[in-house]
Amino acid sequence: MSETSEPDVDTFRTDVINGLSARPRAISCKYLYDTRGSELFERICHTPEYYVTRADLALHESHLNDIAARIGPDAHVIELGSGAGIKTRQLLASLHSPRAYTPIEISAAALTRSSRELEAAFPDIEIVPVQADYTQPIPAEAFALNPPAKRRIVYFPGSTISNFESDQAVHFLQRLGRIAGPDGAVLVGVDLVKPADQLIKAYDDADGVTSEFNRNLLVRMQRELGADIDLEAFTHEARWNEAHSRIEMHLVARRPTTIVIDGHQFAFEAGESIHTENSHKYSVESFQALAARAGLQSDMVWFDPDGVFSMHWLVADA
Ligand code: AVI
Repeated sequence: MSETSEPDVDTFRTDVINGLSARPRAISCKYLYDTRGSELFERICHTPEYYVTRADLALHESHLNDIAARIGPDAHVIELGSGAGIKTRQLLASLHSPRAYTPIEISAAALTRSSRELEAAFPDIEIVPVQADYTQPIPAEAFALNPPAKRRIVYFPGSTISNFESDQAVHFLQRLGRIAGPDGAVLVGVDLVKPADQLIKAYDDADGVTSEFNRNLLVRMQRELGADIDLEAFTHEARWNEAHSRIEMHLVARRPTTIVIDGHQFAFEAGESIHTENSHKYSVESFQALAARAGLQSDMVWFDPDGVFSMHWLVADA
């Protein structure tokens, strides 16, 4: 959900019109990631308040040797996302005689770029890119190697799993478990629950980068859908929803305002919002329970040195 995706404009229009007609009003977080949104997300990752990226990196730095030992030799690592980042390079560099690496990425340009870089950096690893939307089923042949590797490791760092609703997350983990197969494992990054004030700051940084990221959705609606929107009438808000253990991002109307798209009028009263993202925060136990619903057992959990972020090693239930 964090990679650049440009679904066709008719689907975007239908989803936005349906989302603004619903109560509560909501638009899928996948639409936050146009080119500008993806750039802004990269900037969020460097804000002092957004601890997630740093913690994920610190976890990798602390435990890579252990993770690599668990993965073992002759592994085929399959990553959901383009894999151009530091974590992928560190992981590949620490593996014991790895067999192959498959990045799955929707953007052809990002996939080609990252594959070329990795081929140059790791000439002994077969790089087998797959261009696909990883939220949708991918044919098994896409991952087939001849001869097969000893085991498949499905790698999904960064806590993007947090942005799925729990049923979606269960179905998604089930799919990852099927890709990994009975001898493989799923390695997934999961952000942990922490005090609400810290979470709210992380999703409403002082420099306003997250605010711009959220409000960019309105700019995208103007550009791609010709929507008539008074941008200044909406403000970014991060809310902690205790009952669902999640941070919510909203675009809240500061004053009465109307959005018009293709003759459809959406009138907002002051304080009414468009819900644009959920980021679920788990305890180790609540994530283990979620994984169990997907038929996966969390065999091992690693933490960053501050204990704010986790990485689960999931295997098929015996
Ligand atoms: C991509 N994903 C893990 C981010 C998160 O923390 O939920 C998206 C994000 N939204 C606002 N800040 C970061």
